[in-house]
Amino acid sequence: MFDFNYYTPTKVVFGKGTENKAAELIKEFGGKKILIHYGGGSVVRSGLLKRVTDCLDAAEISYVTLGGAVPNPHLGLVYEGIELCKKENVDFLLAVGGGSAIDSAKAIGYGVVNDGDVWDLYDYKKEAKGCLPLGVILTIAATGSEMSDSSVITKEEGLVKRGYSSDYSRPRFAIMNPELTMTLPDYQTACGCTDIMMHTMERYFTNGGNMGLTDSLAEGLLRTVKKNALILCKDPQNYDARAEVMWAGSLAHNGLTGCGNDGGDWMTHKLEHELGGLYDVAHGAGLAAIWGSWARYVYKDCLPRFKKFAINVMEVEDSGSDEEIALRGIEAMEEFYRSINMPTNLRELGVKPNDGDLELMAKKCAIGVGGEMGSAKVLNEEAMLAIYRASM
Ligand code: NZQ
Ligand code: ZN
Repeated sequence: MFDFNYYTPTKVVFGKGTENKAAELIKEFGGKKILIHYGGGSVVRSGLLKRVTDCLDAAEISYVTLGGAVPNPHLGLVYEGIELCKKENVDFLLAVGGGSAIDSAKAIGYGVVNDGDVWDLYDYKKEAKGCLPLGVILTIAATGSEMSDSSVITKEEGLVKRGYSSDYSRPRFAIMNPELTMTLPDYQTACGCTDIMMHTMERYFTNGGNMGLTDSLAEGLLRTVKKNALILCKDPQNYDARAEVMWAGSLAHNGLTGCGNDGGDWMTHKLEHELGGLYDVAHGAGLAAIWGSWARYVYKDCLPRFKKFAINVMEVEDSGSDEEIALRGIEAMEEFYRSINMPTNLRELGVKPNDGDLELMAKKCAIGVGGEMGSAKVLNEEAMLAIYRASM
C-alpha cells in the first residue's frame, strides 16, 4: 500500500427536489454574481433551468446564463464564458448538466482566475493558481466531474482533447437528484454506467500498492453499477436504481476507489480521448469499444488483478489456469457491455478509421501522455497502435 492524500471538499446534497436548494447553497458558499452554464438544451426542455432561475430570482441572486456546452466540450465556448464572466463580474459558477457542462464551467473558472491562455493548462505549459468557485446540479450519472478534480476540453483546431486536473476545480457543492436523470436517452444512461465502472477499473488494474479495503469498495461499486445498469435497461424510471448509479458515479471518480494504489492505469481513457476528439463519440461508448482490446493486450502483465476482477466482479467460476479465468472475466465484461447496448469494438461504435487515422490517434495519444503510460502494462506508441488495430 502506498501513502495517499484523500481530499473531497464537495458538499453533496442528494435526493428528490434538491435542485430547489441551489440558491441556499450558492449563498452558503458566498456566490453573489452567478454564471449558470449548461449544455445543448436538455435542461431547457425538461424545465430544470427555469426552476433553477426561479429559485435564484426568489432569493434575489443575480445571474447570467450561457448554454451550448457540447459533449466533448469545446475551447471556443470556454473563451466566450471567460469573457462573459469578466464583463459581468461573475464570482461563482453554477453548472447545470453533465460532465460536458461541468468541465466547460471548470475551464471557464480557470480562465477567469489565471492570466494568459487557459489552453496552456491543458497543453501542459503551466499550472493553475486557482479557479472560480463552482457548484453543480447534475443531470447525468457518468463522469464524476461533480466531485472530481478534472476537466476535459477539446480544442477545435487539430481536434485535440485534453484533461487538466487540480483540486482548485473540485466543486463546492453537488446537487444530485436521481429523478433529473430519468429524461436521459437509454444510450446515455448506458454510456454513463460504462464510464462510472471504468473510472474504478482504471484504478483497479494496477501493478502497485493495492489495498484490501480499496479493492472491496471498488468491487462493491462495480457490482452495484453492473446490477443497476441492467435494471435501468428494462426500467429507466426506477428511482432506486438511478440513485445507486448516481452515487456510484461520484464515488468512482472522487479518489475513494484509488486510495493506496499507484494512481491507476488510465490508458483506456487516454485511448478513448483520441476517439472522442477525432470522431466526437460519446465518452462511455468509446471506452466500451476500446476496453476489450486493451484488456487482452495487457492482462498477462497484470494477471492477479484480472483474475480477482473475473471472480469478484464478473462472478466467473474459480477453475482452470489464472490466464483462463482472466480471459473469461474479459469476455464476461464484453458480454455485459453488449447486454446494455454498448459497443465492444470501433465498428460497433460506428467509426471507420483507416490505418493512417489509427496511426495519427496513436501518435497524438503518445504525445498526450508524454511518451508512454500505464500501470497494468506500460504502453508506448507502438502498443497504442496495436490496441487501436485490435479494436477495429
Ligand atoms: O447537452 P444537453 O442538451 O444537456 O444533452 C446531454 C448530452 O447530449 C444529454 N443529457 C444530459 N443530461 C440529460 C441529458 N438528456 C436528457 N436528460 C438529461 N437529464 O446527454 C448527453 C451527454 O451529456 P454530457 O454532459 O456530454 O455527458 P457526460 O456526463 O458523459 O460528459 C462527457 C464529457 O466528460 C468528459 C468526457 O471526456 C466528455 O467530454 N469526462 C470528464 C471527466 C471529469 N471531468 O472528471 C472524467 C471522464 O473520464 C470524462 O473524460
Ligand atoms: Zn471517463
